Amino acid sequence: MSIRKAIFPAAGLGTRFLPATKSSPKEMLPLVDKPMIQYVVEEAVKSGIKDITIVTGRRKQAIEDFFDISFELEHELEKKGKKELLDEMKQISNMAVVSYIRQKEPLGLGHAIWVARDLVGSETFAVLLGDDIIDSEVPCLKQMIDVYNKYKCSVLAVQRVAKKDISKYGVIDAHKLESNVYHVQDMVEKPEASNAPSDLAIIGRYILTPEIFDCLEKTKEDKSGEIQLTNGLRLLRKKQAIYACEFEGERYDAGSKIGFLKATVEFALKRDDLAGEFKEYLKKMAAQYLDLPVLNTPKSR
Ligand code: UTP
Repeated sequence: MSIRKAIFPAAGLGTRFLPATKSSPKEMLPLVDKPMIQYVVEEAVKSGIKDITIVTGRRKQAIEDFFDISFELEHELEKKGKKELLDEMKQISNMAVVSYIRQKEPLGLGHAIWVARDLVGSETFAVLLGDDIIDSEVPCLKQMIDVYNKYKCSVLAVQRVAKKDISKYGVIDAHKLESNVYHVQDMVEKPEASNAPSDLAIIGRYILTPEIFDCLEKTKEDKSGEIQLTNGLRLLRKKQAIYACEFEGERYDAGSKIGFLKATVEFALKRDDLAGEFKEYLKKMAAQYLDLPVLNTPKSR
């Protein structure tokens, strides 16, 4: 059976985006005009996922409203003849079957996944983190499902990262099997650059066999009181093979301010309705802030 279900952990505190996240979810911050979580749900749907569970916490009501029907809004758009927008809004609520479960306290990513165990049951499932936005020809999750369909074991998404950034990630120690597939030997959470087993960092996409739930149940809290998924995966690795897929595509760490800004600029530059005027504006900014010559800016503001 291929992968049908996905968990979206979205119960984190979003401290890197305070004060914006004091009363609204980080997952609803827009990249241009689409909330981050919509990009990630669309990736899952394009990869064949039919059944979505979002793990929420306090202050996350806006996510549930977003995937629900907005009766008043749809009525108004219909009255005003805005058919295209109306269809777009309807498409959001029709995209997939979405269920919600609460993580009462933010006790870590591993705990957030464990909370959804009864909704997943005994089948292999995907996990997607809303912070990692991946722009690729073939959806990143689809690339991973192809690896799963071949090897039938848990698959982690990995990407090569610069040494200076490696200490922000879970990092794999692995043997290469194919050009983009690795057999994971071990994982280290946030290693010092000098101790990192490789430059292959785990990114926010996972395919996990249901045995992970038992491993997460046995995983001890770390120093900060959180159940880390990486530690649960280390237990799973002792029972079953875990593979990693070095995916093709551009990944944005939109959970950090700088990653969010980069994604915003690049997504705007890819939009036909914005690119022209936005490029002119960026040229002017480059001249002003980076001391670069102004190139072809007849229409700049
Ligand atoms: P992060 O640590 O990157 O996100 O967790 P955060 O906690 O929301 O943000 P910062 O670090 O405080 O700025 C990675 C993912 O795991 C989810 C988050 O919502 C995010 O999608 N998460 C994390 C949970 O669902 N529950 C938790 O207890 C922790």
